[in-house]
Amino acid sequence: MSEIGTSIIQFIVEEQRAHPNSTGSLTGLMSDIVSSCKKIAHLVNRSGIIGLGGAAESENVQGEVQKKLDIITNDVMVEHLNWTGHLAAMASEEIEEVIQIPEQYPKGKYLITFDPLDGSSNIDVNISVGTIFSILRCPEGVDNPTVEDFMQKGTEQVCAGFCVYGPTTMLILTTGNGVNGFTLDRDVGEFILTHPKMTIPEDTAEFAINMSNQRFWEQPVQRYIEECVQGVEGSRDKDFNMRWNASMVAEVYRILTRGGIFMYPIDSKIAKQGGKLRLMYEANPMSFIVEQAGGLSSTGHQRIMEVQPTGVHQRVPVILGSKNEVERVVSYHKS
Ligand code: AHG
Ligand code: MN
Ligand code: MN
Repeated sequence: MSEIGTSIIQFIVEEQRAHPNSTGSLTGLMSDIVSSCKKIAHLVNRSGIIGLGGAAESENVQGEVQKKLDIITNDVMVEHLNWTGHLAAMASEEIEEVIQIPEQYPKGKYLITFDPLDGSSNIDVNISVGTIFSILRCPEGVDNPTVEDFMQKGTEQVCAGFCVYGPTTMLILTTGNGVNGFTLDRDVGEFILTHPKMTIPEDTAEFAINMSNQRFWEQPVQRYIEECVQGVEGSRDKDFNMRWNASMVAEVYRILTRGGIFMYPIDSKIAKQGGKLRLMYEANPMSFIVEQAGGLSSTGHQRIMEVQPTGVHQRVPVILGSKNEVERVVSYHKS
């Protein structure tokens, strides 16, 4: 099953067969997500040619200027997922309310949250962007899910993944049984298993943080970054390198490949809103993947997947990646 070269569809069907009572609905849902990612990869790739670059004339629920592609990729996700009968409802970064399944279609037993285009400020500068998703079970007996039904901790996720549209398009997936990476073979239109059982090295000498926010950080993060920057001349006895893509998908993919720590911590500029990244469709799915690959993910004070959600668009501080570095930052929060 985890042989390099296996198609993603064969991979998920075989994973399903390992659960004899499975109805195949999760497999169907994952296959719908795969289709939407292929469509989005195509649109992102051709955006300059077909006039999809630049800003739309709207803002999303969080007051952020929407890119044309933010709106279009949201529609692609909804249109691929709302009719196949696997979902009871959806929630998207780009839509304020819970998205209901149109009446003419059957409803399924899962809920999904997604960020249709992560890192969209990068779209016009040709840097990697992506799609992030998280699948939850719809509570038993609920026919018309509301926000309340989505308020499940990250530990309840059934499946999470992200697709990164970079030099190659890659889909990274977990159902709680490790992390596997698939590369889109455009010639045949299929994702192929190229990176089985991805693991994050426990140690790293690479950090990712938006340094322009330095003066707003809290003391534990100030201390950690200062020690990294001091390198061999400081207490860490080693030099660190820094990366910042402003695309969480690209940062997490890098960390899955060669380790690292990624932080979007709380700072005094964003304290009121609780953080920058969104719990339900950025932090939780990425935390599930990172933990499944042997890394850690924390707010600084709490494991992210144990944060009780209070809203679909809720934000949290995020510190994730190589185990030993995340543990160090968490210990600085304690002291
Ligand atoms: P989105 O494009 O979905 O709004 O997400 C962007 C996120 C994340 O991907 C990235 O790590 C961070 O915002 C970048 O923030 P700054 O521009 O503040 O660096
Ligand atoms: Mn995002
Ligand atoms: Mn987005």
